[in-house]
Amino acid sequence: MKNKGLFITFEGVDGCGKTTQMNLLAEYLKDKGYEVILTREPGAKGLGEKIREILLHYDGEVSSRAESFLFLADRAQHIDKIINPAVEFGEIVLCDRHTDSTIAYQGYGRGVDIKELKMLNDLATGTRKPDLTFVFDIDVETSMSRVGKEKDRMESSGMEFFNKVRNGYLEIAKQEPKRVKVIDSTLSIPEIAGNIKLIMEEYFEHN
Ligand code: TYD
Repeated sequence: MKNKGLFITFEGVDGCGKTTQMNLLAEYLKDKGYEVILTREPGAKGLGEKIREILLHYDGEVSSRAESFLFLADRAQHIDKIINPAVEFGEIVLCDRHTDSTIAYQGYGRGVDIKELKMLNDLATGTRKPDLTFVFDIDVETSMSRVGKEKDRMESSGMEFFNKVRNGYLEIAKQEPKRVKVIDSTLSIPEIAGNIKLIMEEYFEHN
């Protein structure tokens, strides 16, 4: 029997450890017999890669609103060409960053109007919403030390910015506790993976 598709997103400040956990969860789900695809924003295959290049490496001035629209253009393409077809086919899509990144980074971080960003996110994604979202929470000092000295355009935004982003994520989780699960990312890699598995098991039991 074909599985019901699922869309799970991974969120948190740069250097929070979400990508490692996404790969571990993919292995776990594949072992259980699910079809899994891994993808990311910005920069899924094709057009997304071009948009990612501008977002992370363009060295001229970028207005916060223009930055938002670039992330949103990437998202619309990603939903239409990759995420929706995979979920409809019954696959589990694990996505490194999605709509909550825009609310946390451009909204809480850069100060773009959050209500407007939510509307734009809805336009970019249509009716597709993540079924489950993990927010990897960690203090910004630790996360920035993981990023290291070579920083891209976004990572060069400073501690104050990243503290706002972190608090933004916690606020999102407070507003949508059913979808958004906060993961203590100061724990060890196996401990975090264990906590994620528990949440997944619970999700499968109830859905
Ligand atoms: P990336 O190298 O993918 O970072 P990470 O490995 O931490 O996910 O770079 C993506 C950057 O873009 C990251 O700094 C977060 C930022 N971003 C936004 O500001 N808004 C968004 O909507 C998205 C999707 C990402």
